[in-house]
Amino acid sequence: MIDFESLVKRFGDRTVLKGLSFTVQEGEIVFILGTSGTGKSVLLKTLVGLLRADGGRVRIAGEDVTDLSEENYLPIRRRCGMVFQHPALFDSLTIAENIAYGLMKHERLSLEEAMPRVRECLALVGLGGGDPSLQPDIQLETKLPTQISYGMQKRVSLARTVAVGPKILLFDEPTTGLDPVTTRQINHLIRDLSRKTKTTSMVVSHDMDCALEIADRIVVLDKGMIVEQGTVKEILDSKQPLVIDFLAEAKARTVEQ
Ligand SMILES: Nc1ncnc2c1ncn2[C@@H]1O[C@H](COP(=O)(O)OP(=O)(O)OP(=O)(O)O)[C@@H](O)[C@H]1O
Ligand SMILES: [Mg+2]
Repeated sequence: MIDFESLVKRFGDRTVLKGLSFTVQEGEIVFILGTSGTGKSVLLKTLVGLLRADGGRVRIAGEDVTDLSEENYLPIRRRCGMVFQHPALFDSLTIAENIAYGLMKHERLSLEEAMPRVRECLALVGLGGGDPSLQPDIQLETKLPTQISYGMQKRVSLARTVAVGPKILLFDEPTTGLDPVTTRQINHLIRDLSRKTKTTSMVVSHDMDCALEIADRIVVLDKGMIVEQGTVKEILDSKQPLVIDFLAEAKARTVEQ
């Protein structure tokens, strides 16, 4: 589904991604784990064409997207829903308008026409209040992003991404800065969403706990290179020092809680 082949990305004379090769299969949830500054966000941005590769190839569903023009990238970007680290909602638009934004812009729907889908998506992220067609949460729909909590904003931002029906979901540190309870909820949400909407997901994170809980496979990056990859079981058995550190840190945190 997503195929990175010897991907290289440089900024000036600094090589940030040093020839990464890995594949994400259709329907999989793959976690990209690594310490700060290893190039995780750069990897996602290269996939959606926000940054361009300096070497290697990127393929999505068999299509080579490495050298596509900006214009030809637009439909690709629409297939890839990206959930950024911070919710990035439009502050002057209501929750409903935020979620309807992509539908209004790309499918030329009116807000009214988009509302059934908005409610469906709110329900998908656990903000629907039961049956989406019977019990819309009018109060929430008409609020502004600043009037709801950070955790709820993250859910709304997820709903907005899912609304346009992406085949691929990309998450950049979806749970950073959230308390353990909300982290767990968002994690389950990612897993349930991926299953329900049959999307392929890449989750960038430095949270080994989250990865162990919901990943089908984990890819560990260090200094722009893959140092380990495998299923949860394989990662738990890894002898790679960075992986052992990540596992020890996750275990210490579990004991703390
Ligand atoms: N647009 C850019 N121009 C120049 N350098 C950049 C640019 N984007 C990222 N970098 C550099 O590339 C390196 C990798 O950045 P990246 O944001 O991918 O790290 P990361 O693994 O996502 O880290 P974190 O966990 O802190 O988010 C960093 O050293 C960063 O300074
Ligand atoms: Mg990052």
